[in-house]
Amino acid sequence: MIIAIDGPAASGKGTLARRLAEHFEIRHLDTGLTYRAVAAALLAKGLPLGDEAVAIEIAQNLDLAHMDKGVLSAHEIGEAASRIAVLGGLRKELVSLQKRFAETPPGAVLDGRDIGTVVCPNADVKLFITASPEARARRRTDEMLSNGKEATYASVLDDLKRRDERDSNREVAPMTKASDAHLLDTTEMDIETAFQAAVDIVAKACKS
Ligand code: DC
Repeated sequence: MIIAIDGPAASGKGTLARRLAEHFEIRHLDTGLTYRAVAAALLAKGLPLGDEAVAIEIAQNLDLAHMDKGVLSAHEIGEAASRIAVLGGLRKELVSLQKRFAETPPGAVLDGRDIGTVVCPNADVKLFITASPEARARRRTDEMLSNGKEATYASVLDDLKRRDERDSNREVAPMTKASDAHLLDTTEMDIETAFQAAVDIVAKACKS
């Protein structure tokens, strides 16, 4: 079984993907981490984010089992990941890595921006998770503050809007809802309610 989950930053898609994978006992890949890992390696080498040849080489040597979510979650790395995500050759490399992960039995949940449209167009079920920018900014601000990081609601909201704009309008594989994806708007939902709604959608899709 392959479950494809897409949506903007802080929509809740990461938590839902992880919990769905546990529930259905399949593997999980947060594809954002693959872009973040490449961006972090370029930053560490002091190379420009547009250096696609090096970015591709880093992608070819990426070890999916050892991406450190804690380190890669830094705000600057997310911003850098969104910048390198416009590079077509790099995307091709990462997409083939992600496809291989998805197609390895017993299947997987993948979350990102182009899973239902590009990485797994034949997924058994597709979800597009969304929430208003304000709700997402509130969640992200609370999460950062509770992790002891500095954050103000206004600047988080600003950053999210900028990232949505870049991720939705880039030429290659922009973030968009696949025509056969189920839309789940979590603006008014807590995570438990959203999870139950997602499980219902997957269970129904698998029955039909
Ligand atoms: O989901 P995230 O915040 O970890 O993703 C970081 C950036 O990586 C995001 O702004 C756009 C890019 N990305 C992408 O282009 N395609 C994906 N499938 C996943 C992430």
